[in-house]
Amino acid sequence: MTATLEIDGLKVAIGAANVLRGVSLALQPREVRGLVGESGAGKSMLGRAVLGLLPANATIISGSITFEGRNLLAMHETERRKLLGRRIALIPQDPMTSLNPVKRVGVQIGNLLRHHLGVSKRVALARASELLAEVAIREPARVLSLYPHEISGGMRQRVLIAMAFACDPALVIADEPTTALDVTVQRQVLQLVERLRQRHGSAVLFVTHDLGVVAKICGSMTVLHGGRVLEDGETADVLARPRHAYTRALLAATPRADRPAEALRPVPPALIEQLWSEARRLDRLTIAGPT
Ligand SMILES: Nc1ncnc2c1ncn2[C@@H]1O[C@H](COP(=O)(O)OP(=O)(O)O)[C@@H](O)[C@H]1O
Ligand SMILES: [Mg+2]
Repeated sequence: MTATLEIDGLKVAIGAANVLRGVSLALQPREVRGLVGESGAGKSMLGRAVLGLLPANATIISGSITFEGRNLLAMHETERRKLLGRRIALIPQDPMTSLNPVKRVGVQIGNLLRHHLGVSKRVALARASELLAEVAIREPARVLSLYPHEISGGMRQRVLIAMAFACDPALVIADEPTTALDVTVQRQVLQLVERLRQRHGSAVLFVTHDLGVVAKICGSMTVLHGGRVLEDGETADVLARPRHAYTRALLAATPRADRPAEALRPVPPALIEQLWSEARRLDRLTIAGPT
């Protein structure tokens, strides 16, 4: 079976900063993999590298990214653009800034469908209406005629999820899609992503700092820290037997149903530093090769 995504030894620098320091991970068809780690770990950079949307000042130093057996880094820009939004889609973090404010919702979904699927305006509009119904938006026809500022944040995120799955992508990168939303809406959004990825048969790389979310929807997980993979495996195994103290600290800082919310604390920076130096020491012991 050809893997949907294979990242091998990816190193990315922004100026003098090494933001990804030799990251490897793979997703099989239909796999849902959580990508966790605190802010600044390199999660978004990894997602952007796969999408071909790294910032202009970023350099890929070494490594490879293979999508369905094709080397994305060797692919011509125009070929790669064709994959984006069609075979590889993004659910962005911020629903507020991710839609064009001056175009009606229906026009934006319609343009996507016409661009990638080459369908007529009429077919695109009918399909857009179905897509909104799929993400449980009532009165889809009315919503299609509205501008993004006329709908709520949760509704915008549904629209973006509908757009991500619109062309039956093989891979969806969800970059903290619930962070900007309140808790009830978060739960609905998670359910939607779960339902749509099943229906459309997509693999999902689910970027989050919430291990609760990972436990719920991700069969496998990768823990990223300081631009490196600390752990990788089946979610149940990693959560039951975290190999690194860093993962244990993340777990300790994760909300649990059996613990009051007041007991939750973020991982203190000093502890992270200490754990990171421990991880570096372990790296030296277990991982041979250049750093
Ligand atoms: N546009 C940028 N220019 C320079 N450095 C950046 C840029 N975006 C992110 N970084 C740096 O890259 C590192 C990884 O960032 P990012 O992938 O956004 O982390 P995460 O998504 O895990 O919070 C961080 O150290 C961050 O400061
Ligand atoms: Mg990020």
